[in-house]
Amino acid sequence: MDFTGKVALVTGGANGIGRAVCLGFARHGAKVAIVDRDTTAGEALASEIRAAGGSAIFCAADVTQSASVQAYVKATLDAFGRIDCFHNNAGIEGRIAPTAEYDEATFDAVMAVNTKGVFLGLRHVLPVMIAQGGGAVVNTASVAGLSPSIGMVAYVASKHAVLGITKVAAGEVGANNIRINAVCPGPIETRMTRDIARQVSPNNPDSVAERYAASIPLGRYGTAEEVANVVLFLCSDLASNVTGTQYVVDGGRLVAAAGVSSNAMR
Ligand SMILES: NC(=O)c1ccc[n+]([C@@H]2O[C@H](COP(=O)([O-])OP(=O)(O)OC[C@H]3O[C@@H](n4cnc5c(N)ncnc54)[C@H](O)[C@@H]3O)[C@@H](O)[C@H]2O)c1
Repeated sequence: MDFTGKVALVTGGANGIGRAVCLGFARHGAKVAIVDRDTTAGEALASEIRAAGGSAIFCAADVTQSASVQAYVKATLDAFGRIDCFHNNAGIEGRIAPTAEYDEATFDAVMAVNTKGVFLGLRHVLPVMIAQGGGAVVNTASVAGLSPSIGMVAYVASKHAVLGITKVAAGEVGANNIRINAVCPGPIETRMTRDIARQVSPNNPDSVAERYAASIPLGRYGTAEEVANVVLFLCSDLASNVTGTQYVVDGGRLVAAAGVSSNAMR
């Protein structure tokens, strides 16, 4: 995979999966625009990439705000002149609670970042890609976009919506030489999964992680780098005929869950 001379824009790029994607793009020659609301981590990552000989800028932004999204697109164009690859990735987990008790403000907050943020990113990046004659987008969904995670109604709704948005937009811009796909990570070792484990069992989050890892055929959480590898593949010319679909990176978690259901029917 060679991204020499290409420009990659990554939201939620300061930490976790987005950070691994930024480092991967930089390692493969791309100029990187890191977008995040975490200014400290974002600035530090941009400096790290530049210190290693790469090109990177950091744009502080809130992906839920249209003006902020337009500003990160403008900052990327001002710095690098184009946007070849867009990883539309920023997301939050919200609370773990039954639907009958889920609070409305958290529901709105999760939908705002995970779904509206993805829409706004496409709304303002696609015109740039259309004008320049092509590009590749990867939206971060989740296995929660394909199957339910009990207690996470807002997150599951938001990630199902990301897959819908991905298919609609891919159908619209294929003729413009733009590919749009989604990546569906299973449990990945980041702040997000640590927070979910703490919410489920505040006194013993490690036990939650151990139990969950044991339910995954590969026996462990994935790493941010393993998701980044798939994002880079989908943005690369190796995936030149792949659009409107989703790639699952979950160590086999979904097939194991399906197996549990069919075993219960025996
Ligand atoms: N970790 C997992 O197991 C997992 C599994 C499936 C999907 N995902 C998805 O992967 C994506 C990245 O998650 P992660 O695990 O790396 O989590 P993370 O918390 O480590 O990183 C998320 C990043 O998004 C940023 N962010 C959050 N809200 C923002 C906003 N309004 N504006 C700008 N930036 C914002 C955060 O500051 C952070 O840097 C999310 O969309 C998440 O839903 C994660």
